[in-house]
Amino acid sequence: MRILCPVCGEVLKLGERQWYCVKGHSFDVARQGYVNLLTVNQKHSKNPGDTRQMVAARKEFLDGGYYEPIVQMLVKWLRATGSGPLLDVGCGEGYYLAKVSQALPEKQCVGVDISKEAVRYAAVRNPKGLWLTATAAQLPFPDNSFSCVLCMFAMTVPEEFRRVLCSDGAFLQVLAGPDHLMGLKNIIYPEILHKEKNIHPQLPGFTRIQSQTLEFSFRVNSNRQVQNLLAMTPHYWRITKEGAQRLAQTQTLQDTAQVIFNLYTPTDLHEERDMV
Ligand SMILES: C[S@@+](CC[C@H](N)C(=O)[O-])C[C@H]1O[C@@H](n2cnc3c(N)ncnc32)[C@H](O)[C@@H]1O
Ligand SMILES: [Zn+2]
Repeated sequence: MRILCPVCGEVLKLGERQWYCVKGHSFDVARQGYVNLLTVNQKHSKNPGDTRQMVAARKEFLDGGYYEPIVQMLVKWLRATGSGPLLDVGCGEGYYLAKVSQALPEKQCVGVDISKEAVRYAAVRNPKGLWLTATAAQLPFPDNSFSCVLCMFAMTVPEEFRRVLCSDGAFLQVLAGPDHLMGLKNIIYPEILHKEKNIHPQLPGFTRIQSQTLEFSFRVNSNRQVQNLLAMTPHYWRITKEGAQRLAQTQTLQDTAQVIFNLYTPTDLHEERDMV
């Protein structure tokens, strides 16, 4: 796997303790094994992305196994995307990629997140993987590096994903459907506004070839895990004082997850096929 210097774009030499380029830019390998390739220019705040508290909440909730059906579906879809390297963009604390790595041990798995806290957790969880702090807007890899790019509940940057993907590769996007976590929403909002959400977005440079909606129920039996679930969602930022008070009283939550899987291939592949 070739990794590019985020400052000048030269290929990095990957030493055990330090990665460096011919122009003298260097990046330390952290004790936990990840490398922070985020430059000051790429940051919009001191510590961009999910905070330590959000990352810890996500880890504790996901480790509870409630989202195991998502793992099952993910592995099923990834089995069909070829054997080359897999990049998970916005990988968070690495729960899904660690599960994929267990199920498909032959796959080279690379996780990237803008949050240093998230990547640190991921590296501890799965020392076998390659974990980098970097932004989805400027991925530190040469063109055509991956046979699959995965993006789960995180920001899709089509042009950049297309660039690092092989021309016969696949992009798997996983997002929350409009009816995701209605149980939680019913507690925290007095009235739920149904906003239109495009669950099958058209992406420049890609053709969507397959989609599937996964729905499953789960039950959370402690207020701590209910609060952890909240911290994993955008509602964490939107919740009102009254909503937070109602959630503080909630000891059990019966809810339904609604998760959309969209599989895309690079459009030029279809155009080439059409021309034959
Ligand atoms: C909702 S979380 C999803 C995490 C993980 N994919 C999961 O499903 O458990 C979104 C993640 O995207 C990361 N993120 C936000 N902006 C990003 C960017 N520009 N580049 C890379 N990651 C980003 C956040 O730090 C966070 O870990
Ligand atoms: Zn450099």
